[in-house]
Amino acid sequence: MIASWKIWFGLMSICLLQCRVVSQKVQLEPLSSTALRDSDVQFIATIQGDWEVTNWGVGGIQVLTIINSTNSIIPSVDRFSARFCVSTNRNCVEFIIHNVTRADAGEVVCNVQGHQPVTAQLFVQESGTVSIPGGNVTVMQGGEVELECVTTAWFPAPTISWTQNGRAVNSSLYNTTSTPDGDSFNSTSTVRLTASRNARVDCLASLSTLTAPRSSSVYIEIVPKPPDWTVLIAVVVSFGSCGLLGFLILVIVICYKHRKEKKRNYQDEMRRVTTHNQLSVIDTSEQVRGQVNEYYEPENQRNDTSDWTESGFLKHRHMTFV
Ligand SMILES: *[C@@H]1O[C@H](CO)[C@@H](O)[C@H](O)[C@H]1NC(C)=O
Ligand SMILES: *[C@@H]1O[C@H](CO)[C@@H](O)[C@H](O)[C@H]1NC(C)=O
Ligand SMILES: *[C@@H]1O[C@H](CO)[C@@H](O)[C@H](O)[C@H]1NC(C)=O
Ligand SMILES: *[C@@H]1O[C@H](CO)[C@@H](O)[C@H](O)[C@H]1NC(C)=O
Repeated sequence: MIASWKIWFGLMSICLLQCRVVSQKVQLEPLSSTALRDSDVQFIATIQGDWEVTNWGVGGIQVLTIINSTNSIIPSVDRFSARFCVSTNRNCVEFIIHNVTRADAGEVVCNVQGHQPVTAQLFVQESGTVSIPGGNVTVMQGGEVELECVTTAWFPAPTISWTQNGRAVNSSLYNTTSTPDGDSFNSTSTVRLTASRNARVDCLASLSTLTAPRSSSVYIEIVPKPPDWTVLIAVVVSFGSCGLLGFLILVIVICYKHRKEKKRNYQDEMRRVTTHNQLSVIDTSEQVRGQVNEYYEPENQRNDTSDWTESGFLKHRHMTFV
């Protein structure tokens, strides 16, 4: 009976020891964290079983110490703090880095005395400035405009994109190059746009931890095409030609009228003379006829003569007045 009790007790002891070893584990959450500079970042350590002292290290420096028995939390500086997840439970500890700096990046170590240290990775991003140095631009209708966006002091290099009137610009229309500058990056993005109307163009720089991209905007103002010089010249020339032609026509008309006037006078004169002569001829012929009237003369011949005279006279009139 006693022997069996001893065996049972012995087994229990082994189990308790082993269970204790198995359960005394330190877990860190998250094991990888990315934070934006100046933000706060938390790590939670879950410690199974009793513990007395826990140290937190950031960037290779011990920054905070927690002593369980005295309920003491001792930070090296204000930027670091810790608290128990639940005030009654000492198995969960929250460690907070406030206003995280680039120098905090690297390993965050939770070291529970008597246990293997547990390490998490901290990445710190930094957003810098965004600008379109060229400012507002004026471009001719349908013309191509090239805009340059400059970002400085970002870590890592931001993802740059463009929008035109709020709509994403096809990435085939821009190029971005980044160059390291100290512990950060400067980038230049060049976009080529064809504007048909006034537009607002935004350059957006983003990082995974930035809730909204940083941006800079400019306005493209469209101006109508200036008049084509060849067109202008053509217009001037054609108008000039028209004017000249009009002038020539006017001169011709005046000359013609003048000449016509002269001609009419001349013709009037001529007609008067002709008429007079004809009348003289007729008179003469009448006289002759009168003289030869004693002889036989056919009626039609006489009429013919009259017709000739009259048609001749009419011909003159026709030429003169029509
Ligand atoms: C964090 O930074 C802000 C502004 O930079 C400051 O007002 C605040 O006191 C800082 N917090 C800590 C814990 O240092
Ligand atoms: C750019 O144009 C916008 C809108 O026309 C105007 O409000 C802004 O002041 C201009 N910026 C500069 C730097 O001229
Ligand atoms: C971007 O432009 C390329 C070539 O011009 C075209 O093949 C592609 O479909 C465009 N993408 C979008 C999203 O419009
Ligand atoms: C982008 O860069 C390539 C090669 O340098 C060049 O051929 C292309 O025209 C550039 N595109 C823009 C929009 O600047």
